[in-house]
Parts: sequence; C-alpha cells; structure tokens
Amino acid sequence: MSRILIRAGTIVSDCRSFPGDILVEDEKIVAVDKKISGPGKIDRVVDAADCEVFPGGVDPHVHLELETSNGISSDDFASGSRAALAGGTTTVLDFVTPGRHESLSAALASRMEAARAAVCDYGLHMSVTAVHGSLAAELAACRQQGIVSLKTYLAYKETVGLDDDEFLAVLDLARRLNLLVMVHAESGDMVAYLQKKLLAQGKGAAGYHPLSRPPEVEGDAAGRALLMARLAGVPLYLVHVSSRQGVEAMTAARRAGQTVIGETCPQYLLLDASRYQNGAADDAAAFVMSPPLRAREHQTALWEALAQGIIQTLATDHCPFRSFEKKKYAASDFSKIPNGCGGIETRLSLLYSFGVKGGKIPLTRFVDLVSTRPAKVFGLYPRKGAIRAGSDADLVIWDPHETRKISAAGQWQRCDHTVYEGLELHGAPRLVFSRGAAVFENGRVQAEAGRGNYLAREWGQGSDGRGD
Ligand code: URP
Ligand code: ZN
Repeated sequence: MSRILIRAGTIVSDCRSFPGDILVEDEKIVAVDKKISGPGKIDRVVDAADCEVFPGGVDPHVHLELETSNGISSDDFASGSRAALAGGTTTVLDFVTPGRHESLSAALASRMEAARAAVCDYGLHMSVTAVHGSLAAELAACRQQGIVSLKTYLAYKETVGLDDDEFLAVLDLARRLNLLVMVHAESGDMVAYLQKKLLAQGKGAAGYHPLSRPPEVEGDAAGRALLMARLAGVPLYLVHVSSRQGVEAMTAARRAGQTVIGETCPQYLLLDASRYQNGAADDAAAFVMSPPLRAREHQTALWEALAQGIIQTLATDHCPFRSFEKKKYAASDFSKIPNGCGGIETRLSLLYSFGVKGGKIPLTRFVDLVSTRPAKVFGLYPRKGAIRAGSDADLVIWDPHETRKISAAGQWQRCDHTVYEGLELHGAPRLVFSRGAAVFENGRVQAEAGRGNYLAREWGQGSDGRGD
C-alpha cells in the first residue's frame, strides 16, 4: 500500500477553505483534518504550506480526436489528457457522436476504443443526432454502461442537429430514462440562412463568421430549448453560453422555477470579437468557433452570471485544429473552417488569474465551477470533485504565486497555436495527483498512455443532474 501525507496546505472546497492535512492511501483520500497526527508509516510527505489544495479539475466538455468533415481535432485522447493533467484537470468528459444511421452502441464501442489511450479519467456523453424507433432501447443500453447525459444540437442541422419535434422527443425520453439533456443552443436554420447570404454577397472570409451567428441566434435557441424543457418537465444544461441573450434566457427560466444549468468557457469570458477584425483572414480563422467570440458587453454579462450562479460550470469545449486546417478556407469560405479552439490545459489558470485574482469570484466559487459542480451535475460526485475521505485522490497542489505567459511553444496541447497566446497567468499547478499517483510534477507529466479509467456514471448522493 502507498501512503501519502499532504501537509499544511490551504484546502479549498466549494464552500470553505482551511489549513489542513490530507492522507491518501493508494487511490483514495482516507482522512482530511486540520492536523493529522500519528499517521503511521508514510511513503511520501508533501509540504503544501505555501500552496492551495483543490480537488482535481473536472472538464465536462472536450472534443478529443473529433472527426469533422473539415479535419480532425489535433489532440487525441493521450495528448489531450496529458495536457489536462498539466493544467490541473484530472477528469474529462468527451462525446460519442453517432452518424445518423449508426447504432449508438457501435458508436460507443469505437469511441471507448479511442479513449482507452487517455492518461486521466474520463467519461462520455452520448449525442443524439437522429430520432427513430429504437432510440429509447439504445439509450437505455447506454445508460447501463454509465452514460447519464445526452448532447443535442439545435445548430448544425445538416449533420447532427435536431428539429424542434425531435428535440422534444429526446426530452421526453430523457425524463423516462432519468438522463440529463445538454444542448448546443444556436438556431440552425437562421445560421444556415445567414451563412448562405453572406457567402452569396462575397463575404466568405473568416472575419464574417460571427455575422452568421449573432448573439440573438443563441438567445432564440436558448429560449426555445428552455421552453421545450419546461413542457417536457426536465432540467436542461446549456453548453458554452457566450452571450447576454443566452444569460437572459436562463435567468428568465430560473425565475419561472425551471432547473437550468449553464456552462461557459474561458474563450467567451476573456476574448472578444475584435479578434475577427484584427489582421488577415488567416489570423481570424484561429478564432472561428461556434458560438463565436462576442463584443465586450457580453463578457460583462457572463462574469456577472458566473458570480451570481446563473452559470455554474466552466468547461473548455477543447477542440483545437492545426493552423493549416484552420487557414485552408480562411479567405474563401468561413463555413468550411473547422470550428473550435484549444484550452484544456489553461482552464484553471485562466479562471484563477482573471476570476479569483481579478476580484470577480471567490476561491470557493472557482473550485465549484471547475471541479465540484461539474462532478455533481454529471453523476461523478463525491468520487470526483471533493476533498473528503472516500473520494478519489485527485488533488491539485496549487502555487498561487507562480506566474507565466501562455505560449504555443510551451504548451502540452498538441497544436501549433493557441488563442490565448501572450496572456499572463497568475497561479499554476505545482503537483497534480490522479488517483493517488503524482502525474504532474516539476513541470513534467508522468503518466503512461492508458492509465486513465473510464467512469461509468450514475446519479447519487449530491449528484443528480442538477448539482444543487
Ligand atoms: O466551435 C466549437 N464549439 N467546436 C466544437 C464542436 C462543438 O460545436 O461543440
Ligand atoms: Zn463542444
């Protein structure tokens, strides 16, 4: 048996912080106390006196080796999960995205195979891309394999998106099977129309991408999705909320008594739409993602929503593509540029730097947003997202004084650029444990491909798809 004692750190949970010790045996936390005395034989003592100690980060929304018609996202499960560990994230949730005529179980089996290379623990959401007679039975079978959350798209009508009647049918199934529905809320018909119109006007360069997906398109889809969730009587999780309109739709639904969980991502909090105007089409292409970056006023609305608990989780939507793939259609057709950006390794540092050190949120809220709440919402708590006896020993020993600049040259993510190039970070992981193993130390990731465990998920204590 291996026993580790983490001494005198400032232990931070979602509701309090206190100086204390943590005792780890093999993969589990076995004791947490102000002072653990007489701990017996210890294999390793970690002096955390000048550090904060967080539960390992849980990133509820990543796309590793995502195949799209315009390329495959550049991080595979091994490289992306390595980058996650380097940034203090010890659990990621990715997606199974079946083709419209593919069985869910076949798609799940092949995604499980790809995910086996992961070095951190991982779970999967199931995307529903078509509604048909065997869907209920197939979803029930996936549920048996630990998938309790579904992804739906109101955008991307031509590939994975659902019409309203299909979305309603999925919500009804989710109620019957006790599954949580996540929705990408952008109105697909409007986007398709606006794309076509811009292209016909010769406005195909990357900088026009945001004009095809204005914030109203998110507000409309969020409002309709929430209305349909109300009709179906189920909670709804809105992924990557990017706009004031999205926040307003959630606020109104909450006021009406609905259970709504909102997610946003660092790119929407920290980067703005000027990135589409500065420089050449090639530069703008790096920032093509959906929803797009917004004008500054939206960032203010998102920070307020974070502080008020209207947005409850911080994900990355990690989906980087190499520059040559981003640039291929940069001058001619923004609708063909693969969507997304990387960020799996900078999520904690960015929120810590600009949220906590920036005076916008307290440290406990930071822990809630990056770890505890996503664990609760997605059926992982208290195994993940908690520093308490019985939880997995996923721990981040955080140096609050470390400063550095983000650069593509120094990143773990497998990509030749980063949208956060040059941003200054305050605070970084010094040591990261994943199930009791020191997987990031002295600036190095030490984790063999395949050491990550698949997490079969289920609602349990404090973990019910709402996270309340
Ligand atoms: O632009 C984005 N968000 N790319 C990733 C795929 C998706 O839409 O979630
Ligand atoms: Zn996504």
